Amino acid sequence: MKKNFKIEHLDSLAQGVSKINAEIVFIPRTLPNEEGICEITGSKGRVSFAKLTHLEKHSDLRTKPECRHYEKCGGCDYLHTNYQTEIEFKKSALKEIFIRSHRFESLPPITCLSASSRYQYRNRVQLHYDKKAKKLGFKSTDNKITEIQDCLLPIDKISQEIKSLYTDNSWLKNVKSQRNKGHIELYLKDEKVQTTVNAHYSSGGFTQVNKEMNEKLQEILSDYFQKTDSESIIDLFGGAGNITKHSKADKVFVIDSTDSKYIKLQNPSQKYFQINLYDKDVINKLQELGIQKNQSLVLDPPRSGLKDIDAFTQELEPKSILYVSCNPQTLARDIKKVDDSYKLEKLYLIDFFPGTKHFETVAIMNRR
Ligand SMILES: C[S@@+](CC[C@H](N)C(=O)[O-])C[C@H]1O[C@@H](n2cnc3c(N)ncnc32)[C@H](O)[C@@H]1O
Repeated sequence: MKKNFKIEHLDSLAQGVSKINAEIVFIPRTLPNEEGICEITGSKGRVSFAKLTHLEKHSDLRTKPECRHYEKCGGCDYLHTNYQTEIEFKKSALKEIFIRSHRFESLPPITCLSASSRYQYRNRVQLHYDKKAKKLGFKSTDNKITEIQDCLLPIDKISQEIKSLYTDNSWLKNVKSQRNKGHIELYLKDEKVQTTVNAHYSSGGFTQVNKEMNEKLQEILSDYFQKTDSESIIDLFGGAGNITKHSKADKVFVIDSTDSKYIKLQNPSQKYFQINLYDKDVINKLQELGIQKNQSLVLDPPRSGLKDIDAFTQELEPKSILYVSCNPQTLARDIKKVDDSYKLEKLYLIDFFPGTKHFETVAIMNRR
């Protein structure tokens, strides 16, 4: 069904929001004040989802996407505007999410760190395949596999590897003994491109996908660690200790579920413990490690966040909390549960994922 729309604003997922009669309609790849015709693709209660079919009034913020695959590929969300505008939308999204959480009377100003380049930053990508259909690519806007031979986001070495997989459909050899549908992951390790097939995401140990922005994150962390005087740091969801690499504390407890054989720590004060942090007995397990109260708590969970964060803060009574998150929704949900004795002092938006709706947030809370 086709409908006329006018976009009022963008939501936190980079979708244009239009009110059509009493119905709220989300239309990706549109911009505020744009008008046109959309096609409804699905509905849930009084909310509908649509795709843009014709634009009658263009925003001045609209630019021609540099990626030839943009219309079809579902990987990027902001390439129809320039990078500075993308950053402004991301900043508004973060602010809106925190304001809506009703936890803070006032928010600290958001410090935004943008990338020096919008493209060629990803050192890890996942491609989906379907052997019968002989298709390899990314999921498109309609959730089908679309061949994307020239994605702009990967670093050069990964792009070259993608090209060679497409040459004469050579990827079919990689999946010969595998199931009919699945995924191939390409990632950089020790400056070489590695390949896994149907393994879970970063099965050989998590690494951040954007080197430049990870260095910027580490500068913020370095500054934070200079100012914290706690004897030890608890680095939850710590992977190989990337977040606490520059800490000056005597002891750093790096805790993660990854098998220790994949963990190469980066600072002599770090000690690794393999623990499932979503386990119901996790607090006891942490206490058994000898973790004291009144230390610094650092956490960097997966997108699902840590919804029982209050159990950790009540038991560990940290003097400060530094929460790194790739999902501002779960971040805001979680820190809403931290009691009022902690004050939100700093908020950083670090643009690890230019072109897409995603970004990292760092929230620093100190005990009053
Ligand atoms: C966003 S990554 C952060 C890793 C690390 N802080 C870094 O900067 O490289 C999230 C981490 O959570 C870990 N993780 C996922 N589920 C977990 C669980 N149930 N218990 C403990 N760690 C988990 C993953 O192994 C991964 O290392």
